[in-house]
Amino acid sequence: MTQNYRITLLPGDGIGPEIIAVAVQVLEAIAPQFDLSFSFTEALLGGAAIDATGSPLPEETLTTCRNSDAILLAAIGGYKWDNLPRAQRPETGLLGLRSGLGLFANLRPATILPQLVDASSLKREVVEGVDLMVVRELTGGVYFGEPKGIFQTETGEKRGFNTMAYTESEIDRIAKVGFETAQKRNKKLCSVDKANVLEVSQLWRDRVTAMSADYPDVELSHLYVDNAAMQLVRNPRQFDTILTSNLFGDILSDIAAMLTGSIGMLPSASLGANGPGVYEPVHGSAPDIAGQDKANPMAQVLSAAMMLRYDLNQPAAAAKLEEAVVGVLDAGFRTGDIFSEGNQLVGCDRISKELLSRLA
Ligand code: IPM
Ligand code: MG
Repeated sequence: MTQNYRITLLPGDGIGPEIIAVAVQVLEAIAPQFDLSFSFTEALLGGAAIDATGSPLPEETLTTCRNSDAILLAAIGGYKWDNLPRAQRPETGLLGLRSGLGLFANLRPATILPQLVDASSLKREVVEGVDLMVVRELTGGVYFGEPKGIFQTETGEKRGFNTMAYTESEIDRIAKVGFETAQKRNKKLCSVDKANVLEVSQLWRDRVTAMSADYPDVELSHLYVDNAAMQLVRNPRQFDTILTSNLFGDILSDIAAMLTGSIGMLPSASLGANGPGVYEPVHGSAPDIAGQDKANPMAQVLSAAMMLRYDLNQPAAAAKLEEAVVGVLDAGFRTGDIFSEGNQLVGCDRISKELLSRLA
């Protein structure tokens, strides 16, 4: 019997609509081969939502997302909305989506494909073979901590502040995801914090250490975040699974992404305790190249593959998409972000056609 899935599409801004269209095409192409069908519903998020409704996350979008099996998001943001008050900025919509759906666990794999080693800004001998996963806490920490704000002090000077806070239960649930992710990989978990300075990190380290008793098969280590950033560019192969908080994960996942040559290749999954997950490229909306047929749709396609694997439990279909991406790279097709000498520079449309011809 054909299995039907309700997928919410959040194209967002910039190159978002172009790349999500490619993901829809490849999903439709493989659906019959795996006895699947997809009902896609588009909803507004980010700048597009601000322009249409005044809010970066309309209530209707949250409802549509909650009523779906999985959510495919492209990217949000752009110069146009950068100077709006915080409550009306595209980023606020994304953060609201994460917290509204309870997506506390963000999985960001960074795997270097042999075809793209030369696109990395680091030396071949440093990045070859890198295959790591950043498990980032996504609904807590300094991104969401209260109190926060910008207030006038008694001297008339303004003071801006945020609160970096984690409860034990918030730490425990993301640590569990970290240990379980490591168990499915090479069984090495590195927890990253700033316990030499921050109380919130001390609690983080204590809880993670305590939990490691339940996972005797996982080798746990700890690094301070400054050292972790350095180690990521010095010797990235030492890492298997990295577990970290919201802000540190934001920064470290961008570093990890760049090891692979292009942030344009990397997918991510944001998962909650139950309910649909959000699958999105790690890269942003790239407004400077929007609408010019220059965008790399591969991270979006790989995000669709993650969706098939994690939410829809269709690993064979996921593998098919991943193989098509590798096939297109093997044939030498490159968008600008991953171009290197000896390959053919093409646009988003051409990549899409090449993917589809391999999926037929
Ligand atoms: C990311 C982005 C977001 C974040 C922004 C757009 C709010 O940088 O997903 O990494 O900081 O989490
Ligand atoms: Mg980021």
